[in-house]
Amino acid sequence: MPERIDLFDSTYGHFTEQVLDSIRKETFGVDIGQNSWLTVDEYDRVLPWLRLTPEHHVLEVASGSGGPAVYLSNTAGCRVTGIDANERGVATASQMAIRSNQAHRVGFAVADANTRLPFEDHTFDAVLCIDSMNHFPDRLAVFKEWHRVLRPGHRAIFTDPVVITGPVTNDELAMRSSIGFFLFVPPGVNERLIEEAGLQLVREEDVTENAALVSGRWHEARRRHRGDLLKVEGEERYDGLQRFFAAVHRLTTERRLSRILYLVEKRAG
Ligand SMILES: C[S@@+](CC[C@H](N)C(=O)[O-])C[C@H]1O[C@@H](n2cnc3c(N)ncnc32)[C@H](O)[C@@H]1O
Repeated sequence: MPERIDLFDSTYGHFTEQVLDSIRKETFGVDIGQNSWLTVDEYDRVLPWLRLTPEHHVLEVASGSGGPAVYLSNTAGCRVTGIDANERGVATASQMAIRSNQAHRVGFAVADANTRLPFEDHTFDAVLCIDSMNHFPDRLAVFKEWHRVLRPGHRAIFTDPVVITGPVTNDELAMRSSIGFFLFVPPGVNERLIEEAGLQLVREEDVTENAALVSGRWHEARRRHRGDLLKVEGEERYDGLQRFFAAVHRLTTERRLSRILYLVEKRAG
């Protein structure tokens, strides 16, 4: 059974260091400051589905280092509020908003997505949640909160990066979830819970390819920068994270764990 390995604290705490900067560029091609399996091509392709205008206000749940939120406000011209449970993530994200001259439109706060969100009903014109759903134990309650804070007729996009679509051993599941709490579900569960929360599934897409591509590149880029990474992570964490990225790559390439993107809508009226 692998030990718990810290990914988020370490990454967010050292986000702007040269070595992590280089690794992100080599991994994502275009580095928008993400910490997930998201590439800018994928983001640009799906964002129009939210039908955003500059008057809109978006909630990003589990906004991490803030890159996707800042990119969104820059491209759509809308307001974005990001919440994340990780204090270092929120601090890094807030600095990124200031450095990108987006602080007037983008704000970040520490909040736990598993609890009642600190917002009034019908506050947001869209909800976004990238590669984080698997960290929330009560998915139905989370969907119900999104339903509460969304305006009627408006949409949410989320990805679930660990839908079980093939045989996976207990060691593989343990390795894949070595970075924190994980909830793995089979196909059909997200679809059922979306409806149960009062939301409507508009579109569903298999985007596993991106996770396979990004995890492979991430593993390789980290190997190339091993010397500098060891100074930041130490040997034990470096090795643990390399095993984690290798496991993600193997499981997604073989389509035993799939990354699925969902577009959902809150019914009008
Ligand atoms: C894979 S990262 C994705 C970050 C960001 N969405 C991105 O695409 O760069 C998952 C994020 O979920 C956050 N997270 C985990 N549990 C959470 C919770 N209960 N509430 C809010 N955020 C949480 C972590 O701190 C981390 O930033």
